Amino acid sequence: LGHTVTYYDSVPTTQTLAHEWAEGGAKEGHLIVADEQTGGRGRLGRNWHSTFGTSISMSLILRPKLSPQQTPQLTLVAAVAVTRAIEKVTQLKADIKWPNDILIKGKKLVGILTEMQSEPGLAKVVILGIGINANQSEDELSHDERNQATSLKVESGLETNRAQLIATVLEEFEWLYDTYLEKGFSEIKLLWEARSISIGKKLKAQTINGTVTGMSTGITAEGALLLEDDEGIVHTIYSADIDQA
Ligand code: BTN
Repeated sequence: LGHTVTYYDSVPTTQTLAHEWAEGGAKEGHLIVADEQTGGRGRLGRNWHSTFGTSISMSLILRPKLSPQQTPQLTLVAAVAVTRAIEKVTQLKADIKWPNDILIKGKKLVGILTEMQSEPGLAKVVILGIGINANQSEDELSHDERNQATSLKVESGLETNRAQLIATVLEEFEWLYDTYLEKGFSEIKLLWEARSISIGKKLKAQTINGTVTGMSTGITAEGALLLEDDEGIVHTIYSADIDQA
């Protein structure tokens, strides 16, 4: 994976470029990287802020033989890969917040966004977007409405070699992705749960259908979050914003 890398200085968003490259026939593993995004996209229609030369913005083109329903699992595979890569390169230990935020001491360090072009029954192309706050100073970090942001530099006091971190993310993702495609989600699920701060806590999930509060007991085989409310009813959460209750 990532054997072809197309690099840009400044672009609106690497996600749209990756979709365009994919439509033009780019192969699985083609990576689009930019030094800056001026219109980065986040989950649930939010913006994602990236700063010139200090943040990492990358979008990976994947062509997995998966159903559209399975593709959210790739986000969890990526979250495990990115936390492992961060730990390898910087020795910092980061936590995963369901589904795919990566935090250090409760502050957001990484955002992951998967977008898919599908045919009935088949995810044709998946664009896996990863944004990492690498060398931003405290001043450069924009604070989104929900999470305070941090960077590897703020947490470690050291500059991270961005190219090395990108290469390590790809290395980690490659074997986890292969494991996932070969053996299914169960092994990834264990790795994800071990690094997650969203298990065994009372959480509040804001979904499009309203708010659910309950104890998080784990994730399903699809990667959805399970919340058990006070009446013992277990709710399966596919997409939501999560906060401590
Ligand atoms: C989120 O946490 O809301 C997801 C943020 C995803 C950001 C990355 S940066 C590279 C790629 N290009 C984008 O415009 N978004 C993703």
